[in-house]
Amino acid sequence: MSNREHETYDVVGIGFGPSNLSLAIALEEHRAHGLENDVSSLFFERQSSFGWHRNMLLPTATMQISFLKDLVTFRNPTSRFSFIAYLHASGRLPQFVNNQDFFPTRQEFHQYLEWAQAQVADHVAYGSEVTSIRLAPGTDPESSDRLRLEVADATGRPGRVVEARNVVISTGLVPSMPEGAERDERVWHSSEFLEKYRRMNPGELRRVAVVGAGQSAAEITRFLHDELPHAEVWAIIPSYGYSVADDTPFANQIFDPAAVDDYYFGTDQTREAFWRYHRNTNYSVVDDDVIRDLYRRSYDEEVRGDRRLQFLNLTRVTGVKRAGAETRVSLQVGPDAEVREVDFDALVCATGYHGMEPTRLLGDLDRYCLRDEEGRYRVERDYRIVTEPEMRCGIYLQGGTEHTHGLTSSLLSNIAVRSGEIADSIVTRRAGQSAEHAVLAKAGSDVLR
Ligand code: FDA
Ligand code: NAP
Repeated sequence: MSNREHETYDVVGIGFGPSNLSLAIALEEHRAHGLENDVSSLFFERQSSFGWHRNMLLPTATMQISFLKDLVTFRNPTSRFSFIAYLHASGRLPQFVNNQDFFPTRQEFHQYLEWAQAQVADHVAYGSEVTSIRLAPGTDPESSDRLRLEVADATGRPGRVVEARNVVISTGLVPSMPEGAERDERVWHSSEFLEKYRRMNPGELRRVAVVGAGQSAAEITRFLHDELPHAEVWAIIPSYGYSVADDTPFANQIFDPAAVDDYYFGTDQTREAFWRYHRNTNYSVVDDDVIRDLYRRSYDEEVRGDRRLQFLNLTRVTGVKRAGAETRVSLQVGPDAEVREVDFDALVCATGYHGMEPTRLLGDLDRYCLRDEEGRYRVERDYRIVTEPEMRCGIYLQGGTEHTHGLTSSLLSNIAVRSGEIADSIVTRRAGQSAEHAVLAKAGSDVLR
């Protein structure tokens, strides 16, 4: 097949979670407002349908941000894709308001995301995993202006090949397991929790453990305590107890759109201050209501003299072995870091995530991408990786930019604004490149005359 026969888009998005969904909408709104008629786009998503951390859609889990930080409102408060527009379309706006709650359940927010994606579904291919990106063959390496992407279908078979002038990588967080622990049918990471849990016979789960002191760990502990009334539920906590997620108003300002500039253009000292003072807004912390709920349950059991919710504090998992149906877990327990082995029927590692890491996907293209002295990608303010000058395609990141753009990188708080900035950048650069081509074409025809 010749190069010309491949579908070519101005922008191809890799991954279709909330970040790239928000971008698809920003591009749609550009088109609808006639700001740019012909930015063509396609998004690839490896899941067979839209899903936002489906394995953590626990019945009572609520959002950790205001519903107003939806896909669009901070960029365009009059958008037809807002959470309020969704409530209106669902006939629930008055009831939602009566509830007087800024934090809907994750299940309701998931329904909103599904409703929004259905309106841009023409631009999405589900069951499609992008497996590689490289320069389109035939592209002049001195002025590389097209990328070629290979896409595998849901069975993993390679097949579709498309070309793009820009890519926006948004493949999400990467689950992190404790060292020495491999996942299997009884050792799960929180990101696969519901799927693995539903495969079990609950009657077989008489003693289960949840590792970690973050939101995922606390929610899963509460869920298992509800779901398995016959079982002991052990919380293995590295701290002395769960710490609260600071979402008080002054601290919350670090998630404001303006904080991105303060972080991006700030000094190393400024950036360090963001992390030193505000890491506890997001990492290894738990919402106040969940902490209080768990403590109350524990206290009630103590009063009744019937303890099945157990807390092992100051404890880290250091390894896991399979012993028949038992999962033997090595622990460093308590202030003396005493080493113990304990058997469980299932172990849930709610041990967090690594940031998005596109290096493998970028393959040979990585040599065009510049890195800082610590080996991290250098990223422009518009979320484009800084590349060698001959790379004319934009490689944008939605995620994996905590070191350049701050704490919102992996969160929903700023996706409306960020997507708008990326859409604007693509549209503006495209206009610049078209003008450049026109000038070159004119110069060429003048020479021929
Ligand atoms: P996300 O991970 O959602 O999407 C990435 C997508 O890319 C996935 O659908 C994946 O299948 C796809 N993909 C990966 N590789 C691919 C490839 N090669 N080809 C094609 N597709 C590929 N934040 C917040 O601000 N408020 C909140 O309430 C929450 N709640 C929350 C709950 C839970 C359980 C977790 C684990 C995390 C949160 N977060 C959060 C943080 C979370 O990162 C955020 O909500 C979004 O998921 C970020 O959206 P993205 O689209 O960037 O990634
Ligand atoms: P997290 O906040 O990174 O927490 C991971 C926890 O695991 C930390 O307490 C960590 O302790 C601990 N840990 C790691 N290795 C360990 C080991 N070997 N032994 C014992 N403990 C270990 O991860 P998360 O809870 O999954 O949260 C990730 C993101 O998802 C956050 O943004 C969170 O807000 C979000 N989230 C949101 C919801 C919701 O919206 N309702 C639900 C779940 C998650 P150390 O820090 O000491 O290593």
